[in-house]
Amino acid sequence: QSIQWFPGHMTRTKRQIEKYLKQVDAVAEIVDARIPVSSRNPDLNRLIQNKPRIILLNKSDMADAVATKEWIAYYKQKNVKAIPVDCKSGKGMNAFQPTVKEVLALQIEAWKRKGMIGRTIRVMVVGVPNVGKSSLINKLSHGSHAAVEDRPGVTRANQWFPIGKGFDLLDTPGVLWPKFEDKIVGEHLAFTGAVKDDVVDTESLAARLLEILCSLYPDAVRARYRLEGTDFTDLAGWQVLELIGKKRGMLIPGGEIDTERASIMLLDEFRAGKIGKITLERTGGKV
Ligand code: G4P
Repeated sequence: QSIQWFPGHMTRTKRQIEKYLKQVDAVAEIVDARIPVSSRNPDLNRLIQNKPRIILLNKSDMADAVATKEWIAYYKQKNVKAIPVDCKSGKGMNAFQPTVKEVLALQIEAWKRKGMIGRTIRVMVVGVPNVGKSSLINKLSHGSHAAVEDRPGVTRANQWFPIGKGFDLLDTPGVLWPKFEDKIVGEHLAFTGAVKDDVVDTESLAARLLEILCSLYPDAVRARYRLEGTDFTDLAGWQVLELIGKKRGMLIPGGEIDTERASIMLLDEFRAGKIGKITLERTGGKV
């Protein structure tokens, strides 16, 4: 499936980010903890270069806690500070400001020496669509997001949000796209709902997701769909989908299994975290 590209937008976004980078002290990159690789913009590292950075593993409420710990250790090895957050409930977000200050410790010391005590810390929030940027900013700014947006003359290209005394956030100036064109990346984004359903075939997507879940989290699938005792080893994704449809009594007149309905249900449940706390991309993996 082809995905609509807006190369012009991307160029503009890159230019905007480069411009605003000069005005900020650090970058907070949000990724989806369930797919920390696919939910990144492939050009971001190059764009932000040596700017101090923290990574927020968001939606950690739906991710596998063991995998999230592994990712934090992985980034630590690369000298990047990462923290797990849940921008929906606010869990983990108390660590945000202290972590930024930790990353900027030397800088803050230097400011102090120059007499700039209490200088405002400015952080640019970046991330691909749907990763939770608005939720983060809303939570941290206690809802002042809407108020700021409503102010005349304040455009999407320049949105600053005070989140505390001497601490401002800047929303991504523009839209940063993930690496859709990579097949696995596109699939993972579709599983999590980051890519709209209408660009992919729902049944193939659900079957593919089941194949992956049955290999990575077979017990979670068995428990959720009452398939205790089922050996998934020799079953294709679509066969598991049929088993699930049958268990849920999803039949069409004539007695056949309504795999379309089962697919929609499966994807909805996965996206809502109902199948379990699941991470699709592990450190050391291909994607
Ligand atoms: P964006 O600005 O980066 O595009 O993302 P946004 O904050 O709009 O979040 C996209 C979706 O992800 C929203 O769901 C939001 O509620 C959800 N979300 C963000 N952070 C978290 C998190 O830590 N945990 C969970 N479980 N969900 C999170 P939505 O379905 O679009 O809206 P709504 O149903 O919440 O109203």
